[in-house]
Amino acid sequence: MAKNGMQVDRWATRFGLVMAMAGNAVGLGNFLRFPGTAAPYGGAFMVPYFIALLFLGIPLMWIEWTIGRHGGGYGHGSTPGMFHRLWKHPVSKYLGVFGVLLPAMIGLYYVYIESWALGYAWKTISGEYWGHESRDQMKEIFSQYRGLENPGLFSFGLESYLFFLITFGINMFVFARGIQRGIEMVCKYAMPALLILGAILAVRVLTLPPVEGRTVSDGLAAVWVIDWSVLKNSDVWLAATGQIFFTLSLGFGMIHTYASYLSRSEDLTLNGLAATSTNELVEVVIGGTIALPAAVIFFGPSITKEIAAGGSFEIGFYSLPVIFQKLPFGQFFGTIWFVALFLAGLTSSVAMFTPLLLFLQDELGIERRRIVITLGVIIFILMQPIVLFMHKGIIWELDYWAGTFFLVLFAAIEAVVFAWIFGMDKGWKEMHAGADFQVPRIFYPIMKFVTPTYIIALLVWSSIEVWNTKIATVDQNPYLWFARGLIVVSGLVLCLGIWHAWRTRPHLFDEVEKGPEL
Ligand code: PHE
Repeated sequence: MAKNGMQVDRWATRFGLVMAMAGNAVGLGNFLRFPGTAAPYGGAFMVPYFIALLFLGIPLMWIEWTIGRHGGGYGHGSTPGMFHRLWKHPVSKYLGVFGVLLPAMIGLYYVYIESWALGYAWKTISGEYWGHESRDQMKEIFSQYRGLENPGLFSFGLESYLFFLITFGINMFVFARGIQRGIEMVCKYAMPALLILGAILAVRVLTLPPVEGRTVSDGLAAVWVIDWSVLKNSDVWLAATGQIFFTLSLGFGMIHTYASYLSRSEDLTLNGLAATSTNELVEVVIGGTIALPAAVIFFGPSITKEIAAGGSFEIGFYSLPVIFQKLPFGQFFGTIWFVALFLAGLTSSVAMFTPLLLFLQDELGIERRRIVITLGVIIFILMQPIVLFMHKGIIWELDYWAGTFFLVLFAAIEAVVFAWIFGMDKGWKEMHAGADFQVPRIFYPIMKFVTPTYIIALLVWSSIEVWNTKIATVDQNPYLWFARGLIVVSGLVLCLGIWHAWRTRPHLFDEVEKGPEL
């Protein structure tokens, strides 16, 4: 809401802000992606994971909050305008395109996955799959649910489509109500509820009796016992670092947008750390105690690795339901699991189209109501191929580019722009304006040298992988090309929008605008 160069909508309370930021970060990534990604490597995963948290995750979190609050002070709620304020170069605004494009691309498929959690919460309450106690049976049910069993042209499941519609409706409702009355309102209640539900499940797993001689400590060993030789495998480094980005919502433009609703007198160092810690608590302590240990106790370590190798949904949607059926009060615990999953997804997805909304509103001056309605329709239409061609894998291709590769590119860009072009001295000062917590000085050289180098190394490495797996071997599947085309075309349209905004409304972007004093 660019009125007088300031964002008008605001976070109502500090608690609400931290819950919203944590809610954005805590998502399906914590409960599904984390166990699925960590399982193949065991405890060794946690070594590169914590190194990345310290040298990439926490510094980038502060960088994104700072960029966001700084840009917000000039009335920019999305990264094109924010980058323009960091770096007066004609190209800088175009670099910000990723911070609008990526969250929207993720939102297109994330909402569908989230709807499965809602659908499964219902299936568990109604006891629909009770009596199907093998993983194969549950796998089949999951395939049927999404219409993947013998699809005709479309992978259409009536039940899953209904839950998709409900989930989409809820998301749009919250999205339309804005930051304070929508997102903050939901997160204020959903996040504490999620913490309680997660804690109940964690305690349940920690008090499980042994199954065929396998105890809780065997289960926890799968997450914590380190086999150092695994670290020689470069895959584990790439996987763990990617997980830090995804789980903390870094490199997406999303944190920037949330932070743009802060005023310069409001703290960001302590709040940023609080939101990060909450995410890590949910991921490592709660997320790490539920799915993986439970699978190890019930199925044994080698089958668990096999399960995890089948993808992130194996554990959540067909292995845990098998376990729930064997537990006393299993229906109760199963419902808690899927409701928690749904809430985690919801508090992330409600924000994914906000950067786009703010871009259209702040930079192009389109009226908010018109944007919400038009965007709602466009988003709904674009989601159809993802849902109806589920079996063709459009969803995984989008996830690969938007959720794995481009975010590293964007993070590399922002780290360099912030630490080297805007300048670390100015950056450090800006970050500490209104701060309730003095960041230890050691983070100054970390943010200036270590974080950018680390990300650039990661980028080079991921680019080699992209080249080998995606580009050198030309894929003939037209659906994958559809996904790639969608990303490229949307990116180009947004760039055109940026070009148009800066050309037609130059007064928004010039120096006279009142901004924070540095
Ligand atoms: N961090 C979220 C999760 O763990 C995912 C997410 C990605 C949210 C990008 C917002 C933006 O599921």
